[in-house]
Amino acid sequence: MSDPAAPDQGFLASVFAQYPLEVVSAEGVWLRNARGERLLDLYGGHAVAGLGYAHPAWTAALEQQARACQFQSNVVAMAVRERAAAQLVRFAALPLPRVFFVNSGAEANENALKVALRHTQRAQILAVEGGFHGRTAAAGAVSWGAREKWYGFPRAPFEVSFLPRGRLQAIEAQVTEATAAVIVEPVQGLAGAVDLGREYLQALRARCDAVGALLIFDEVQCGVGRTGYPFAANLHQVVPDLLTCAKALGNGFPCAALMLSAPLAAALRPESLGTTFGGGPLACAAIEAVLTAIESDQLLERVRRLGEYIRASCCVGPVSGHQGQGLLVGLRTTRPAKQVQAELLEGGILAGTSSDPQVLRLLPPYILEEQHVDMLRDALRELPP
Ligand SMILES: Cc1ncc(COP(=O)(O)O)c(C=O)c1O
Repeated sequence: MSDPAAPDQGFLASVFAQYPLEVVSAEGVWLRNARGERLLDLYGGHAVAGLGYAHPAWTAALEQQARACQFQSNVVAMAVRERAAAQLVRFAALPLPRVFFVNSGAEANENALKVALRHTQRAQILAVEGGFHGRTAAAGAVSWGAREKWYGFPRAPFEVSFLPRGRLQAIEAQVTEATAAVIVEPVQGLAGAVDLGREYLQALRARCDAVGALLIFDEVQCGVGRTGYPFAANLHQVVPDLLTCAKALGNGFPCAALMLSAPLAAALRPESLGTTFGGGPLACAAIEAVLTAIESDQLLERVRRLGEYIRASCCVGPVSGHQGQGLLVGLRTTRPAKQVQAELLEGGILAGTSSDPQVLRLLPPYILEEQHVDMLRDALRELPP
């Protein structure tokens, strides 16, 4: 059910390979295209629409805040900002008691790296093969493959090297007293929903502690309930010094957060960090609504259940296996995942791909139901293996 009438990109910079689809409205897990046809959204606006579309509490919170006061910057106190921070800290249930709100995942990582470099007074950052952290100077410098493909800056702003995935011995050899921090996506998103696993993350934590380096979890994609836990840090019971999150945090209202341990927060001074729009009242109203709905609608339990159901039922047709956690799912395909994605879209189901050409990535809203998974299973079954 792709949309041949989808427009070209007109006046927009043509930096995105767009899907053949134009969305005009959406509700729940359903998108409606320009021809009035419904599509099942298993892509969630790239992991953003955790509550799905037109969630009444989210919509009401934004409307109410827009009427009350749409913006004051961080130099003016607002109760909604304080409430959103307190709620995020409570939701995470990790020893990360302070929050710095920003606007995007890349900006959150940029600030996390800055805090780590300044705090340790060291110049080297280690990242992990396959990881993606954003498009800005620092976040791009620690993104796997960026230098070769799209980085664009003449040099990285600090020393960077990459750890191989899964090799515990390399951690000991490469993370040293010269290392300021290791930045890692505990469950890698763009790489195709690759769970690095508890043992690997524990080894990173132990080695960072041994050499006085900091551990940064980039949970921009895998955080805020996507794994069926508040964060992958909770799932794997490994606590970082800094944690970044975005995407599902605002359910589509642009926002992100950097969560800090008490010692790191205590070292911050006025002007150590800054932002105009970060922590704006509309963003904070959205965050409050999202975290409240995840709890009151018992969405974490549902994410775990539906994630299991996908894994148990969707290894059919061109799908030969699965990986990931919760509703960050990688379906391994016997043929190029892009082909399978295009065929699903023809049948009215939107799925994502990943940097692994044989992995189809699902990032559906947390409100997904069994009947939607059954539709995916039936559609996959119909496709050539
Ligand atoms: C794990 C991870 N980190 C960082 C980013 C960058 O976030 P943003 O696009 O909001 O800057 C992304 C975006 O896909 C991501 O998946």
